[in-house]
Amino acid sequence: MSPILGNPTNMDEMYEIVTKFESEFGAFEKRYDDYVDLSEKIRAQQNACKHDIKHFKMYIKMLRSKLAKIESSENQEEQMRIAAMKNSFEDKWLTLREMEDCLPKQNGLYLRIILGPVNVSFSNKQDKFEYKNNYENFKMTVSAIISLFALFLYFFNSVSLFDSIFHFLIVWYYCTLTIRERILMQNGSRIKGWWATYHFILTAEAAVMLIWPSSHSYSEFRDQFMLYSFYILIVQCMQYYYQMGCLYKLRALGQRPSMDITVDGYMTWMSSRLSFVLTFLLSAYAFQIYNAYSLYCISRAPFCQEWQPSVVALIYAFTATGNLITTLMVVRSKIALLNPRKRGYLRKKYSLIFHSDVSAMASKEHSEVSEKFAKEK
Ligand code: COA
Repeated sequence: MSPILGNPTNMDEMYEIVTKFESEFGAFEKRYDDYVDLSEKIRAQQNACKHDIKHFKMYIKMLRSKLAKIESSENQEEQMRIAAMKNSFEDKWLTLREMEDCLPKQNGLYLRIILGPVNVSFSNKQDKFEYKNNYENFKMTVSAIISLFALFLYFFNSVSLFDSIFHFLIVWYYCTLTIRERILMQNGSRIKGWWATYHFILTAEAAVMLIWPSSHSYSEFRDQFMLYSFYILIVQCMQYYYQMGCLYKLRALGQRPSMDITVDGYMTWMSSRLSFVLTFLLSAYAFQIYNAYSLYCISRAPFCQEWQPSVVALIYAFTATGNLITTLMVVRSKIALLNPRKRGYLRKKYSLIFHSDVSAMASKEHSEVSEKFAKEK
């Protein structure tokens, strides 16, 4: 775009400037029309891809069921071919899932209620990576503020207004977290349903704490709660360190041409960090059980007139159990990753190159076995 130079002294000069402006504006309008055109084409391609994904998913299901019927063969060559086909289907299925994650989709119920029908799907993995990065940083920053606030309140417990602000801050934090997590899940994040539910429950728990009146029962539990909130900061730091490490390592995996050694390197790093984090997590669950027990004792005490201690005790007992079970399930799923075939998705997770080595490897393996069989025939 050319700048407007000088001041016109007569009508002709003014006319010349306006003509130039009109022509530049016309070019811009053309560019905008091209953009709208392209957007429409993209939208049409997105719908066509969504349709094709549905079609290929059904196709694979059908092929799998057909394959299952001829699986009983005793012939070794045939068994090899069947195994290669099965692997190929598995990889294609994974590829379809990856494609699905990069296409816009309708919001789930929770997001529809909170945000309405606005599109929160990311069109590429770079945006997804950045959002995840931002989510982890947000979690870390707000948890740090909450925990330091808790430590402050532990030592200065004279103003109950600060306690209310503290509980309100927790309600806001977990509410925000649930929304961000839903957006991540909408974009293909594999966050376990329990963690999302757990953050919903914590919102409710914080709300109960907020309306717990300043009473003997509250004072009995208050200091322990502040200490627990502070301890959670240490656990969050460990989780942050682990999650950010995973995020950046997974992205690095997706950017390298040869990844066999790197996947092993990732697995070794992940196992050692996970065992370290687990120590802190298990202590946090023990603390939660202890909170549940203390609250139970408070609720049974003669001075307790409120219903809040029993409810919060139940929440702690329930969430500690849920957390423990889910964490054990996560550990079990990590053990399953020792099988190289189950690790295929790791390479693709934050890869900017779409066609992964996994699919290529599977197709190669499939055609090699078929060729070998044809030659022998
Ligand atoms: N909150 C939010 N997201 C979580 C999560 C949690 N507690 N645990 C895992 N995720 C996410 C991961 O970042 C990953 O996301 P991505 O698919 O977008 O990359 C996805 O869920 C799958 O993760 P998964 O492979 O199942 O586990 P992990 O190796 O990332 O983490 C743990 C394993 C055990 C460290 C983790 O689940 C954890 O910290 N759990 C404990 C939470 C807890 O008990 N909190 C209460 C005490 S503070």
